[in-house]
Amino acid sequence: MLSFDQKSLFEKVIHRLRTQGPSETFLLIARRSIGLVRSYREDLRRGVSTSRVSKDKELGITNPQYHWYAATDYKTFHTAMTHVTVDPGRDVFVDYGSGKGRIVIEAAAYSFAKVIGVEFSEMLHEAALENVRTVQTRRACPDIDLQLADATTWPIPNSANVFFFFNPFDGEILARVFENLRRSVTQCPRPITVIYVRGEKFFEKEIAWKEWLIQRQRIPCVEGTVAIYENYLWTAPTSSRVIPRPPHPV
Ligand SMILES: C[S@@+](CC[C@H](N)C(=O)[O-])C[C@H]1O[C@@H](n2cnc3c(N)ncnc32)[C@H](O)[C@@H]1O
Repeated sequence: MLSFDQKSLFEKVIHRLRTQGPSETFLLIARRSIGLVRSYREDLRRGVSTSRVSKDKELGITNPQYHWYAATDYKTFHTAMTHVTVDPGRDVFVDYGSGKGRIVIEAAAYSFAKVIGVEFSEMLHEAALENVRTVQTRRACPDIDLQLADATTWPIPNSANVFFFFNPFDGEILARVFENLRRSVTQCPRPITVIYVRGEKFFEKEIAWKEWLIQRQRIPCVEGTVAIYENYLWTAPTSSRVIPRPPHPV
């Protein structure tokens, strides 16, 4: 007898086989399996526990626009970071929907002045606190700040300038968070960078094309793609960043 999760996985595989054919489906399963093994192995090496997913029921999420917990692949994050220049001791990193703290911990390996995680599930927030306490990796960033808060109402500090999203919400929630971000840069102009994992799912459809950000990089990864955006407006009077407005998507 298949459990609910096994059944939905089985249905997903059948759907992929029908829509993408056997070789694409096999490649996807292989990539995901390698990612999963890497995830547990890297957790073990660091002395943390961030790999197990926590679905909406476990987290008490009833609004489908709030997404459940799954961690970004370690390799995805560090590949994305090879395209981000960190101004040591000045840049401030924010992980929106920080879950069990994997990305907060990994970001703290770079010379950010501060790394902030914003998470609205108390259970995940507690797990992140414990992971930050037990982690055995060396930190370049002196300050990790885990905030138990809803992303829509969390006040964005003027110092924050690198924002990470792994598909944490969609619809109205996503729109509200990006409106907060837009307001923050209009009130305190500064160059910002947005790293978006799996943005093709909602972000590119609902927000990115009509907003004030331009895509600078797009990298394939185990989750799909990770894309890096920068603001082309409100970058500060002295900024040397000159980027033309993006075209409307076809
Ligand atoms: C896909 S997980 C990403 C976890 C982590 N950022 C990572 O990449 O490893 C999405 C996370 O967003 C959190 N989340 C969803 N809606 C939120 C909201 N409105 N405010 C804060 N966190 C939220 C979920 O609880 C979950 O931990």
